[in-house]
Amino acid sequence: MSKLKLKLRYIRHPYLIWGAIIRHYEWMFSKHVRVGEYEKCIHSMENGSKKLLDVDANRIRDFKAQFYSKVEFHKRIDESREFLGRCSGGMGKDAYVLLYILCRILRPRIVVETGVANGFSSASILQALEDNQAGELYSIDLHSREGVTIPIGKELGWVISEHLKHRWHLILGESFRVLPRLFKELGTIDIFLHDSRHTYKTMMKEYTTVWPHLHRGAFLLSHDVKFNDAYLDFCDKVGYTPVVISGIGAIVK
Ligand SMILES: C[S@@+](CC[C@H](N)C(=O)[O-])C[C@H]1O[C@@H](n2cnc3c(N)ncnc32)[C@H](O)[C@@H]1O
Repeated sequence: MSKLKLKLRYIRHPYLIWGAIIRHYEWMFSKHVRVGEYEKCIHSMENGSKKLLDVDANRIRDFKAQFYSKVEFHKRIDESREFLGRCSGGMGKDAYVLLYILCRILRPRIVVETGVANGFSSASILQALEDNQAGELYSIDLHSREGVTIPIGKELGWVISEHLKHRWHLILGESFRVLPRLFKELGTIDIFLHDSRHTYKTMMKEYTTVWPHLHRGAFLLSHDVKFNDAYLDFCDKVGYTPVVISGIGAIVK
């Protein structure tokens, strides 16, 4: 981001200065001495899914083909990427294909994610829930993202088609404040996806908050795990070995 754009962003949203200071310190103190260890956890979509779900490669290929056949969905995503240009940000194609496949196979009742921005992950999860004809997605992001993590004139999750939004609940606020309140309402959930602030502190806080609310067989997913040691440290703490597919760390409780 250019210096001018950065200044405009802070003039537009002065409260972000405080957030930026906190984030800066969180990044500075993010522990990343073990990130090399992620290499040995990396799997292809087929092998990783088999390891996690014990499903054969044909089933994965079938769901992948079903997803790619959604012409309208992909047209909208491609147009959105084009609109966003080179610095589009958000989740890449391989990662959101994986989300679609996992949601088709698991048929979750409740999915919770942190980090919406333009809404690539949310859109593919919602498409999977729609194809399952079941399930709800609760997504958490911060206030005033316009001109920050989404383009000016757009709303959080703007890439999601209107017809998919009837299963979507968008909640605004810091994840560590929203999650405990949300779990009081939801009880246990089937899938949690972290894709908010990739600092050790925030990631660890989210995993620790979410873990007691995942029932047996539920998934703890985390995008961009390689940023720091949080996912490895958490998995060690709870006694699981992570599988990393397309940048997404996954364990099954
Ligand atoms: C990497 S983007 C999310 C990308 C999105 N999952 C996608 O696939 O398009 C990260 C988002 O997390 C949000 N975020 C950062 N810190 C957060 C926090 N503590 N609580 C909730 N959301 C947060 C940011 O506002 C930003 O929109």
